[in-house]
Amino acid sequence: MKILFIGDIVGSPGRDMVQTYLPKLKQKYQPHITIVNGENAASGKGINEKIYKQLLEWGAQAVTMGNHTWDKKEIFEFIDHAPYMIRPANFPEGTPGKGLVFIKSNGLELAVINIQGRTFLPPSDDPFRKVDELIDEARKRTNLIFVDFHAEATSEKQAMGWYLDGRVSTVVGTHTHTQTADERILPKGTGYITDVGMTGPYDGILGTDREAVIKRFLTNLPVRFEVKKEGRTQLNGFLVDIDNSSGKTKKVERILINEDHPFFG
Ligand SMILES: [Fe+2]
Repeated sequence: MKILFIGDIVGSPGRDMVQTYLPKLKQKYQPHITIVNGENAASGKGINEKIYKQLLEWGAQAVTMGNHTWDKKEIFEFIDHAPYMIRPANFPEGTPGKGLVFIKSNGLELAVINIQGRTFLPPSDDPFRKVDELIDEARKRTNLIFVDFHAEATSEKQAMGWYLDGRVSTVVGTHTHTQTADERILPKGTGYITDVGMTGPYDGILGTDREAVIKRFLTNLPVRFEVKKEGRTQLNGFLVDIDNSSGKTKKVERILINEDHPFFG
């Protein structure tokens, strides 16, 4: 099973990139399932129902989230009716939404798990123990398991990769918005990348307007962070090919589309 994952979609520049390039990427790589991280899809913070539906319409089968899950109030009205939205599973007990979803393709099922790190992020339950529980649950139905670990620290993400090696098909990191060049298949067959990167402005700072971020560093004054609307854009993604019977990853490929790395169909 081939899975295409698109890294954190930031605001309208990110959505435009998905709309433009997802059909081209599908044509080139023929993924069976496409997963996107949508936690920054609405003006850089959170997601709304319209955008969630658009992402599915444009070709995603699942939308993972992260620390910005609750930023748009509207989320509470639709998350429990959004079967393909996956928020971090280690949010406190009783939180709306779910952290594990099964996606069907060609008679097979892929378990998609979203969890969030605890280093330099708001408090949450232990992601390591929580993911153990979810793997047990997923394994009752499938050995094709994909984990989006939304975390800040590279060490925590590497720890999760090694912790899950051989127990899940793939672990991708999200959240830092900068793609890492450490994609690999770990010794027991888990595909891994520390961070897939971001889809949106190419000339901002993590997708945000540069001037505000620089002013913040120069002055420590409060500034309003806005998505950089004008200018060049990029798409960051990750492709894995998983062996259907063993659930191990056979191939990983990093995807980077921007003016310095043009797309060839
Ligand atoms: Fe995030």
